[in-house]
Formats: sequence, C-alpha cells, structure tokens
Amino acid sequence: MSAIVIYFSRTGENYVNGTIKRLSVGNTETAARIIAELTGADTFKLEPVTAYSDNYSECIEEAKQDQRRNARPALQALPAGLERYDTIYLGYPNYWGTMPMAMFTLLEQCNFDGKTIKPFCTHEGSGLGRSVEDIKKLCPRAKVADGLAIRGANVANARQQIENWI
Ligand SMILES: Cc1cc2nc3c(=O)[nH]c(=O)nc-3n(C[C@H](O)[C@H](O)[C@H](O)COP(=O)(O)O)c2cc1C
Repeated sequence: MSAIVIYFSRTGENYVNGTIKRLSVGNTETAARIIAELTGADTFKLEPVTAYSDNYSECIEEAKQDQRRNARPALQALPAGLERYDTIYLGYPNYWGTMPMAMFTLLEQCNFDGKTIKPFCTHEGSGLGRSVEDIKKLCPRAKVADGLAIRGANVANARQQIENWI
C-alpha cells in the first residue's frame, strides 16, 4: 500500500514574520514537496473552483466569510483512486484556527474510512488550532495520527522536523 500527500496552499501575498511578502510557492506546498521527497508519496493539490484573492487582506476577508457561512467551496477535482492509498498526509495552512473550508469539502466528499490520516499544517503562531479535532469529526472512521505544525516562515528549514514526524 502507498501514501499520498493531499494539500491546500495559496500563492500570492502572505504575511511572513510581520511583513507582507509575495510567495510563488505556498508554505504548505513547500512542506508537501518535502514529505513527497522523503516518502515517495504521490501528491494532489486541492484547487477550489474560485481561488482566494492574491491580495492578502482580500483573501483574509474571503476566507473569513467562508468560515462564517460554514461554506463548502467547490473543488476543481477530487483525488482519484484513493482506495490505492492507506496513508494520507493531509496538509493545509491554519486559517482562523482551523483548516480552509475547501478541506472540509474534500473530507466530506471523499471516503477516508480505515485510512491513516497524518495532518500537517503551516501557521503564523496558532499551530494546528482545532484542525485535528475537525478532521476527526469529519472522518470518524479514519485513524488520525498526531499532527505536525510548522511555522510558515521556517518551512524551508523544517526538513529534519518533518523527517522526525514521518
Ligand atoms: C485567510 C488566512 C487566515 C489565517 N489565519 C491564521 C490563524 O488563525 N493562525 C495562524 O497562526 N496563522 C494564520 N494564517 C497564516 C497562515 O496559516 C500561514 O501564513 C500559512 O503558512 C500559509 O500557508 P500557504 O502559504 O500554504 O497558503 C492565516 C492566513 C490566511 C491567508
């Protein structure tokens, strides 16, 4: 059996260590690539039909509204052939204390029964927040392993931390 890294990550303006920076590869995607390299896992990037704005403050507002409405943003595609995988590395940025709502769409639309979910998140201070509890609620028949929280600004130097967690 094998593993897949499924993740959400955003490029564009982001807030890094107190200043706005433009990222061409999102922090969670950087972590996802390291995990794939270390494990040989396949990868799948979640792409909502309507992406959040490149502009940081607009994105903050859009994501807040989605969370307030408990939205389930439509996804361009779902990962295919999930029955081939027994381990799912699930990656996302911390958005307002939990996962972006697009992850909720994924977890409701796919069947993770009996699989091991290994959650990892990048953040600017709040760690995993309540995301692991939310994953357990959405996937009650999956085994949810201990999560990994990586400070977004440190992600490129987090290889050892990621390797230990794997
Ligand atoms: C809409 C939005 C909400 C966020 N909320 C939080 C938060 O509640 N706690 C936190 O520590 N970081 C928060 N952040 C920072 C992100 O979690 C962090 O920058 C992350 O590394 C971004 O990952 P990405 O580059 O893969 O999209 C937020 C960022 C955005 C854009």
